Amino acid sequence: MPPTEGAQEQALLDEMSRINNDYGVLQRRTAQALARTRHELAETQNVLGMVAHDLLTPLQAVAGFAEFLLDEPNLTEQQRHLVDRIAHSAEMMTGLTDELLQSMDVGASSLVLAPVDLVALVDSVSSRYRLLGNAVSFDRNTPAVKVDGDAIKLERMLDNLVTNALKFSPEGEQVEIAVVDEGPTVVLSVSDHGPGIAPEQHAAIFAPFHRAPGTAAAPGVGLGLAIVRQIVERHGGTVSVDSDLGQGATFVLRLPVMSPRPTSKA
Ligand SMILES: Nc1ncnc2c1ncn2[C@@H]1O[C@H](COP(=O)(O)OP(=O)(O)O)[C@@H](O)[C@H]1O
Ligand SMILES: [Mg+2]
Repeated sequence: MPPTEGAQEQALLDEMSRINNDYGVLQRRTAQALARTRHELAETQNVLGMVAHDLLTPLQAVAGFAEFLLDEPNLTEQQRHLVDRIAHSAEMMTGLTDELLQSMDVGASSLVLAPVDLVALVDSVSSRYRLLGNAVSFDRNTPAVKVDGDAIKLERMLDNLVTNALKFSPEGEQVEIAVVDEGPTVVLSVSDHGPGIAPEQHAAIFAPFHRAPGTAAAPGVGLGLAIVRQIVERHGGTVSVDSDLGQGATFVLRLPVMSPRPTSKA
């Protein structure tokens, strides 16, 4: 006897309910797997961050003690040379570890926003470089411009651009920083007179671990500009480079100017 229409309908409903059930189970399992993966990724980043952080302290000690030894007047020529190499290697490893730490921190932690006067920040950073004997110039009479930003991360962003400008330029070449208020955006530029960057490299240099050809001799792992881009984009801004081989390089950051808060006239 063929199944009645009612029985057929019931079978169909049963089948649909079974599929629905399976779909629900699948959805739950996928969500659980996703949560597990996210958790594991966060754990891995945590561990990496802690390792990098724990490496920094002994590395800084090695670098510091080596510097201290270099002041010792009774070193032989060869001893001085070896201590100098220890100091240099420790300094390089400190830089690399610090960059790894920075890139993980920028990706993971949230911004601590407050009104930041970009001009005051640039002024303090450029003075710090001048104190260390670097030719970094900035017009101190630039009118103040405020952005809604994370001062520590903005400083890190600027530091990455200035250290690049200095390390890729011939010793003693001037690095110029400028801040121009262009209404809704403020333009911060860092210019150098170094070797420049070929146009076909302009997009690639912002990718993590990418270094332009001919760069290998300079210390670094290729994370600095990726960090710069991440920080500026998290502030709602952009970064670009204006350069060609033999022409020096200008890195241009555009950030939204902080809209004035309504003032109460009490
Ligand atoms: N001011 C500059 N002048 C010339 N090349 C630069 C400059 N800044 C960055 N670059 C190029 O972009 C690459 C990526 O820069 P970055 O991410 O800071 O890495 P790193 O400094 O570790 O090499 C550099 O390796 C270099 O090839
Ligand atoms: Mg760099």
